[in-house]
Amino acid sequence: MGGYTLIENAPLVARNTLRVAARARLLAEVRDATKLPELLDFPAVRGDPLLVLGEGSNLLLTGDFDGTVIAMATRGVQVEQDGEVAHIAVAAGERWDDFVRWTLGQGFAGLENLILIPGTVGAAPIQNIGAYGTEVAEFIQSVEAWDINERRVVSLDNAACAFAYRNSLFKREPGRYIVTAVRFALPRAHALRLDYAGIREELARMGVDKPAPFHVAEAVVHLRTRKLPDPAVIGNAGSFFKNPVVDAALGDSLKRGHPELVAWPGGDSRWKLSAAWLIEAAGFKGCRDGDAGISNRHALVLVNHGHASGAELWTLAQKVIAGVEAKFGVRLEPEPVVV
Ligand code: EPU
Repeated sequence: MGGYTLIENAPLVARNTLRVAARARLLAEVRDATKLPELLDFPAVRGDPLLVLGEGSNLLLTGDFDGTVIAMATRGVQVEQDGEVAHIAVAAGERWDDFVRWTLGQGFAGLENLILIPGTVGAAPIQNIGAYGTEVAEFIQSVEAWDINERRVVSLDNAACAFAYRNSLFKREPGRYIVTAVRFALPRAHALRLDYAGIREELARMGVDKPAPFHVAEAVVHLRTRKLPDPAVIGNAGSFFKNPVVDAALGDSLKRGHPELVAWPGGDSRWKLSAAWLIEAAGFKGCRDGDAGISNRHALVLVNHGHASGAELWTLAQKVIAGVEAKFGVRLEPEPVVV
C-alpha cells in the first residue's frame, strides 16, 4: 500500500504552528494524491470527520480530533507553458515560501509581496492568502481538488473558486474538497505593487530606486520579520482576526469618535477597519493569560508562550472578541480555521 502512511493516536503538536498538543484518532500522511479515493474508502476512514492539513499554520485545534487528519505531503512543480505568462502546476504539499522563492529565481513576477507566508501551496487558495496589497487569487488559474461529495477529481477555474478577502468556496464549504494541486499564471513582468504600508520606505532604505520583483520580496521580508513573530520561535498562526468590514454609518461614527482609527475603504461605501488597531485600543496588545497571549509586536497575532492548550487559546481569543465588541460595537471574526 503505497502513497500514504497511517498513524493511530497521532500527536499533532509539530503539525500546527500554534503548537497545540492535540492528538488525532488517525493521521494519514499523503504522498500521492491519486491514492486519496482509496484512502477515503478505508473502513477506519469512511464516514469519519476529516481535517485536511498542510503545515497547520492557519489552524486552532481547541481539543483532540476524533477523526482522520489528512496531511498533504505531495511534491512537484511543473512549468506547463512558458511565455509572457507562465502556467505552472504545483502539488498541494509544496511549501508556499519555497515556491515563491523558486518563481522569483525563474524570473516570474506576481508573488513577490506574498513571500514568507507560512503554509503550503494547497492551503493558499483556501483562505486566499494576502499581504502587502496582493492576494493570491489574482494569480490562480485553477485549483484541482478531490470532491468528497461527488467522489471525483474536479478542476475549478478562478471564478468557480469564488475568492474574496480571506475567503473562498473551499472555506465556505468546509469538508467538501481536498485541494491536490494549484495552477498559477505568472507574468514575466507586471506593475509592481509598492503602495502598501512601508514598502516604498523600505526600498529607499535598501537604496533601490528601480525595483525588480526580488527587491520587493526582500523589502517584504524585512517588514514581516520586524512586525510579525516568527512561528519557529513562538507559536502563532499569523493574523488571528480578520479586518472587519462595517457599514458606512458605523464606520463614520467610529471615525468621528476615534480620529486615530485606522480604516480603509471596503467597497460599496463600507469601511474595512484595522482589527489590530481596535485590539490595541481595547488594551489587549501584549496581554497574557497563562501561556496564551496576544503578541506585543502585533495585536492581530494570538501567541502560545509555551504550553497553552487549544481551549486556553480559544478562551483568550473570545475574551478579545468580547472586549472589542463592548468598546466599539464591532464583532471580530477569527481568521484561521477553528476546529
Ligand atoms: N496596528 C496597530 N497595532 C498593531 C499592529 C498594527 O494599531 O499592533 C495598525 C497600524 O496602524 C497599521 C495597521 O494596523 O497601520 C495595519 O497593520 P498591518 O500593516 O500590519 O496590516 P494588518 O491589516 O494588521 C494585514 C494582514 C496580514 C498581512 C498584513 C500586511 C489580515 C487579517 N492580515 O494585517 O496577514 O501580513 O496585512 O499586508 O488581513 C495573515 O493573514 O495571517 C497575515 C499576517
